[in-house]
Amino acid sequence: MKKILILSSSPRKNGNSDLLCQQFKKGAEEAGHKVEHIYLYDKKIGFCRACYACFKTGKCVMQDDMADILEKMQASDVIVIATPTYFMTMNGMLKNTIDRFLPKWKELGGHDVYFIITGHDEKEGLSLVGDELKKIFRELGNDVKAIIWGEGVWQKGEVEKTIAMNEAYIAGKTV
Ligand SMILES: Cc1cc2nc3c(=O)[nH]c(=O)nc-3n(C[C@H](O)[C@H](O)[C@H](O)COP(=O)(O)O)c2cc1C
Repeated sequence: MKKILILSSSPRKNGNSDLLCQQFKKGAEEAGHKVEHIYLYDKKIGFCRACYACFKTGKCVMQDDMADILEKMQASDVIVIATPTYFMTMNGMLKNTIDRFLPKWKELGGHDVYFIITGHDEKEGLSLVGDELKKIFRELGNDVKAIIWGEGVWQKGEVEKTIAMNEAYIAGKTV
């Protein structure tokens, strides 16, 4: 049994990346794993203030939900990061959350990581998101296992008609 943490950064519940997360979760639970799915928009996550207090204390000066998310990341075997593409890159919610990794950036390695990336463009137009996420999570010391691309999808739910649904389910099932 593996502990799996899914971090969803889209504001759209039942939107395209969320549906892919749900498929991943379904596959993983059927395979006997324990999955927690967090919607970052439901959490209180302030912007990093670059005060660097965390370099001395290991903790952020802001008392919001980020410390709990970092603890959950550290306690997970597998981390799934889901983002819609916004102006060629990851969305602001996810970037803000990643900036808040700072207090624990040396202790966030050793996980298997999956990315779920959606956008109305085809895969080539979304590739920057995959490249930057791969680079960030590898630098932190993780093993990037796969990217599930929800390409060519704009309106909520459009991803349901694509092969990405099965890809997400299989990725979860074989995690
Ligand atoms: C502010 C904003 C910017 C966007 N920029 C892009 C983009 O650069 N490339 C792209 O393919 N899709 C872009 N989109 C479309 C979304 O990525 C697309 O609707 C995606 O399916 C949303 O995923 P979600 O349903 O999980 O939120 C943008 C959407 C918004 C709201």
